[in-house]
Amino acid sequence: MPQLIQKRRSLNKEINLQVQQNKELQARLAKLQTLANLGTISAIVAHEINNILMPLGNYAQVALNNPQDTQLTQKALQKTVYNSARASEILESILAVVNGEAIEKKICRLQQLLEEVFSCIGRDFGKDCVKVKMEVPDELGFPAVPVQFQQVLMNLILNAREAMMPRGGILGINATKEQDKVIIEVSDTGCGIELENMSRLFEPFFSTKTLQSPAGRVGAGLGLVFCKEIIDSHEGTIDVQSEPGKGTKFTITLPAG
Ligand SMILES: Nc1ncnc2c1ncn2[C@@H]1O[C@H](COP(=O)(O)OP(=O)(O)OP(=O)(O)O)[C@@H](O)[C@H]1O
Ligand SMILES: [Mg+2]
Repeated sequence: MPQLIQKRRSLNKEINLQVQQNKELQARLAKLQTLANLGTISAIVAHEINNILMPLGNYAQVALNNPQDTQLTQKALQKTVYNSARASEILESILAVVNGEAIEKKICRLQQLLEEVFSCIGRDFGKDCVKVKMEVPDELGFPAVPVQFQQVLMNLILNAREAMMPRGGILGINATKEQDKVIIEVSDTGCGIELENMSRLFEPFFSTKTLQSPAGRVGAGLGLVFCKEIIDSHEGTIDVQSEPGKGTKFTITLPAG
């Protein structure tokens, strides 16, 4: 009997020690998680700002290269000013998304959001042999933070363009309103996604893009993570369908407001 009591005591001691260690490990894990989130946040900020800096530089270059063409210079400078204002709005809105702050949503017209995104990308898709087919009703709108939703569209459009490199193809943007939902589809006829990658698309830092891939750049693997984050904060969902070699379709479903 005394032996049993002795054993029980030592077991209890062991359990207490384990519980204490477990608590310490949990605290360390929480700290590491915060640091990891901070790393992801900085990477996302850099990623989104980079998306906008590239066309910004291109517009400024157009103005510099064509001083005699005042009309063109004027237009390029207007776009430069517009894009730099957007860069600071984007910065604010990214920080709001990642900090979980709610920014007031307002009814946005999808066509207008798209016009601004294409103007911001500032690239003639025809040059990449990409034909843009848009079927978006004029007045279709939904509650959104405009600058955030533009980032969603921009990331999906840039991914679609890269997926169709170098051959080109069709970038489709379709939207419909069904009862209390707005459904937006962004599709391409590009390389498609291998089955084994489908479940990893929204993982931070997952990318198949390397310098050798047709996109010719190393992907940060943050575009879709950020899209998902924004869509979640709009109480929506994002789904993907893809067939390797044939193309991909991202479907966003949002409350119509
Ligand atoms: N339209 C698409 N067609 C084919 N693959 C896609 C498409 N969109 C995304 N992917 C796949 O999902 C991965 C993750 O996309 P995501 O936008 O998050 O990162 P990325 O484009 O690789 O890099 P970056 O963060 O710099 O945009 C891509 O590397 C690619 O493998
Ligand atoms: Mg991307």
